[in-house]
Parts: sequence; structure tokens; C-alpha cells
Amino acid sequence: MYKALIDRLEKENNLTAEEYLELIRHREEIRNYAAERAVSVRKEYYGNKVFIRALIEFTNYCRNNCYYCGIRAGNANAERYRLTADEIIACADEGYVLGFRTFVMQGGEDPYFTDDILCDIIRRIKKNHPDCAVTLSLGERSFESYKALKEAGADRYLLRHETCDPEHYKKLHPDSMSYDNRMRCLTELKSLGYQVGAGFMVGSPYQTENDLANEMVFLREFNPQMVGIGPFIPHKDTPFGEYKSGTAEMTVFLLSLIRLTLPRVLLPATTALGTVDPKGREKGILAGANVLMPNLSPLHARKKYMLYDNKICTGDEAAKCIACLSERIKSTGYEIVTDRGDYSNGI
Ligand code: 5AD
Ligand code: FES
Repeated sequence: MYKALIDRLEKENNLTAEEYLELIRHREEIRNYAAERAVSVRKEYYGNKVFIRALIEFTNYCRNNCYYCGIRAGNANAERYRLTADEIIACADEGYVLGFRTFVMQGGEDPYFTDDILCDIIRRIKKNHPDCAVTLSLGERSFESYKALKEAGADRYLLRHETCDPEHYKKLHPDSMSYDNRMRCLTELKSLGYQVGAGFMVGSPYQTENDLANEMVFLREFNPQMVGIGPFIPHKDTPFGEYKSGTAEMTVFLLSLIRLTLPRVLLPATTALGTVDPKGREKGILAGANVLMPNLSPLHARKKYMLYDNKICTGDEAAKCIACLSERIKSTGYEIVTDRGDYSNGI
């Protein structure tokens, strides 16, 4: 019976929230089949390619206070840093030599990085590497700002919605933040022509299985080009420091469902997944994910960009990280590719 639901999901790319809930509740029985179908669908669009993105964590200053996040403004124990424009450019140049063709500039909501400063950095990266894509992950900004950044050359934007339930959103964020503004940002980013990534944490405090079923429906409707999901992991210096982590097994199962509902989606096996389970990223790839985002930030910054406790890959040189990931991916029978890895219209 659950097989029939997976088959219908594969065929129609759509189920009701109730049907997703059934699958989530009985995932133990159906996970292998779901992964098998997800891998088959991904093959149709992307072959056995896994795309790599160079993640540059360029500032851990943040004006916000999300209850789950280790770099929240209220965490006085976080040692703050921001990379200079030259350091960011140097990171991208190093990444290019290592084979990366997408650079993801990720940071907290740091008011220091005005549109002028960011646009200058984006233009410089695009000038040095016209064959590369620039992805931004800088949180909530104004329409004008998103527009300026796009005109400067940014191609993609990652902004997880974190939860599609406004009530749940309030439990994860202080009153200064709102679900409506998050959605406003996502809609505007899309309208500006960015390839957009949405996503949520798996097992965040107060999240129910029913919420996860609704996330599936939301994703299908919003239809983003990229979806980032990873387990929630507590950070000791946050209000959620004592909550328990989300699981790799639920995350991996949801990756399969996401692949089946959004067949062409660019879907990373995230660092958080690799943190809760040493084989998490491999399991993610084997369940339908097709993107990896190794960290390219300079070593001195790595340890400071701690969104959650025990984050992996904070001690290794970039080149080492890539060698390690390549080995891991080869061991799963996939191939790392170094093109831009745009949203596929079919291979
Ligand atoms: N555990 C897992 N993921 C987290 N993020 C932030 N804090 C945590 C945490 N404690 C995720 C959020 C954010 C992304 C950059 O990292 O979903 O959007
Ligand atoms: Fe920085 Fe949430 S703490 S955006």
C-alpha cells in the first residue's frame, strides 16, 4: 500500500498532506523503496552527477536572534569575524583552482555588508570567473537590495523558510522576525529571476510529523529550484541548547520524498546531516540528494561559524576537505562534476 503511494508520488509528483503523513509514519517500511525510486528519478535528469558548491562563510555577525542558531546576536560567547572583500575574492580564486564553479556567499544578517560593498564583491568574482555562478545566502533584505545584488551578477539565493507554519515560525523566532517577511523575501527573489532555494530543519523544537507532511505540500507549491534541509542540532549557547537533535534517518527519508515531488530540484546532502551521522552525506546522496557544499572559508573563520555544536569539517584545509569528499562520493558510485550545475531541463 505504501509502495503504491510512492509510485503515485513518482508519477504525479504530488500527494495530499494526509498521504505524506502516512508515509512519514511508516517510513521504516518504505524508506528503501522511496530511496530507490528517488535515485532513479534523479538519474533521469542528472545522471550520476553530484554537484559541488564552494561555501564561503564570510561573516558570523548577525542582527537576528533565532532561538536555534549559534551565531544569533544574543550569543555573547560567539567570537565574531568578517572576511574582507579581498579575503572573499581570494577564497573564490582558490576555489576556482580546486575546480569549483559555484561560490556560495553565506553569512549572518550583518549590516556592515551594504549593497554597495556586496555588489562590488559579486562583480569582482564574476569578472575573475565569468563561467561561475554566485549564490547568496544572506538572509532577509529589501526588494531593492535583492534587485541590486542580482544586477551585480548574483545568480541564486538560498533562504530557508525554516517552517511553513506561521505558529511554528513564532516558536523558533523572536517577535522581531516574521513568517510573512520570510515569504515576502522568497517571493521577491523568485520574481527577480534568482534560482531560489528554500528549506527547513528536520526535528526542530515543536515540529510534528504533521508539520513535515505540510512542508512537502508547501515545497511542491512553492516549487523552488533548490531545497536545503538538515537535522536541527542544538547549540549550547542558545535557548534551544537542551533540545534534542533531529535524526539522519528522518532527514534522509525526506530527501527521497523531496526528490520525488520536485524531480529536478538541486538537493544538498548538508553538513548538518554529516554531523549527526558520520555517513550522513553519503546516505543522503544514496537517497536522492545531488549537491555537496564543502566549506572553503579560511581556517581561522571555520571554527567561528558554529550554527550548532560539533559541526564537522571545521579543522581541515579546503583542499583536504575536497579530497575527502571526492573519496566519499566515489565510494558511493557517483561522480563529482565541476560545471556550474544549473537547474536541469533534462540531460
Ligand atoms: N541546527 C541545524 N541547522 C541550523 N541552522 C541554523 N541553526 C541551526 C541548528 N542549530 C540552519 C538554518 C539556517 C541555515 C543557514 O542553517 O536552517 O537557515
Ligand atoms: Fe542570524 Fe537567525 S540568528 S538569521
